[in-house]
Amino acid sequence: QSDAFTYDPGFTSTASCESKITFIDGDQGVLLHRGYPIDQLASQSSFLETCYLLLHGELPTAAEYETFENTITRHTMLHAQFDRFFDGFRRDAHPMAVMTGAVGALSAFYHDSLDIHDAQQREISAHRLIAKMPTIAARAFKYSVGQPFVHPKNNLSYAENFLRMCFAVPAEDYVVDPALVRAMDRIFILHADHEQNASTSTVRLAGSSGANPFACIAAGIACLWGPSHGGANEEALNMLREIGTPEKIPEFIAGVKDRRYKLMGFGHRVYKNYDPRAKVMQTSAYEVLAATGRENDPLFQVAKELEAVALKDEFFIERKLFPNVDFYSGITLSAMGFPTTMFTVLFALARTVGWIAQWKEMIEDPGQKIGRPRQLYTGATQRDFVPLSQRG
Ligand code: SDX
Repeated sequence: QSDAFTYDPGFTSTASCESKITFIDGDQGVLLHRGYPIDQLASQSSFLETCYLLLHGELPTAAEYETFENTITRHTMLHAQFDRFFDGFRRDAHPMAVMTGAVGALSAFYHDSLDIHDAQQREISAHRLIAKMPTIAARAFKYSVGQPFVHPKNNLSYAENFLRMCFAVPAEDYVVDPALVRAMDRIFILHADHEQNASTSTVRLAGSSGANPFACIAAGIACLWGPSHGGANEEALNMLREIGTPEKIPEFIAGVKDRRYKLMGFGHRVYKNYDPRAKVMQTSAYEVLAATGRENDPLFQVAKELEAVALKDEFFIERKLFPNVDFYSGITLSAMGFPTTMFTVLFALARTVGWIAQWKEMIEDPGQKIGRPRQLYTGATQRDFVPLSQRG
């Protein structure tokens, strides 16, 4: 049993909630999930093991893991009627628009059989969401490229099942490099949970009213889409493409200092040191580029050079701006064959377990009440109404 400890932030806490799931020390660049460092989970566990840990607080035994993996695998199918839901979107709809709509629509299939105060039904909701997100995400991708949907297969691992649903086509057998499966699984681990970030706080606030978890996760997806949050991985790759070559870096840095651009994939509300996920993501980028024959990907050279220049520049040093999880993820996902529009979809797929674990923790808190943030009112003081006829 892990020794629970209460971290004294050293200031009068303005914390929005108490949680036992994830701990971040932004100054030291530390990220723990239920006490386990992110780099150890990324290098030694699987995404489904990390899912079990986030949901239940302890790493699973072999028997617990086998049961959990079987349950998730057998919930990956979508209701046949769900196919028609996708047809309502324009082909060029951003996959995040499809994800927001499709996951919200899941509540139409399950909400009336769901008592969120029943522990077993909460568990089933968590399993359904973790299991079905890859199928929905893959369909959002297939729909956007006009290819037929590929159904999940129960004899594949979570990550391989997802890659196959995205990239298999009826005309040929699908073969994937195990290095890419491992990289996909690791990328899911890196994005699984991150304390009370904007989208997790959105899920908690929506859930605090008693809304069903599918609708709450859809709210989290909508929030994650923003370019300052989960949308940054798409923007970071677009930024690297815009810069194009290392020679253009000084001009870009000058633009950042003039406030004309942000260095996407840099900076963080909490980390004022290197985001520990960014280090693991950079290693994954090397491995995926090597596995796909792109060791000399010019954008990776630009990214490494840009990072080296920024880390030595006073503007970034005095503002404590370091690479975050989004800086290298775009290059990695692009090398795996994903278009930029799918990057935040993958983030949402992985973050679903964090959102649902935090939602569960909140619902299971006996003292839980509806969230009701207050404000500092700076508007007009009380005054009497003036009829239109007297307002000139
Ligand atoms: C994620 O919360 C989470 O945990 C989120 C996340 C998760 O896992 O859920 O970690 C995922 O969202 C990572 C962040 C992804 N976003 C980006 O990479 C977009 C680029 N980064 C920024 O927009 C920015 O860094 C934020 C939004 C992430 C944080 O913004 P803040 O809170 O304003 O940062 P700050 O207070 O530390 O800024 C200090 C200064 C400011 O300049 P001054 O007004 O003091 O002159 O640094 C500047 C900021 O304008 N600044 C940047 C910058 N980030 C902050 N300047 C240029 N480029 C940047 N990226």
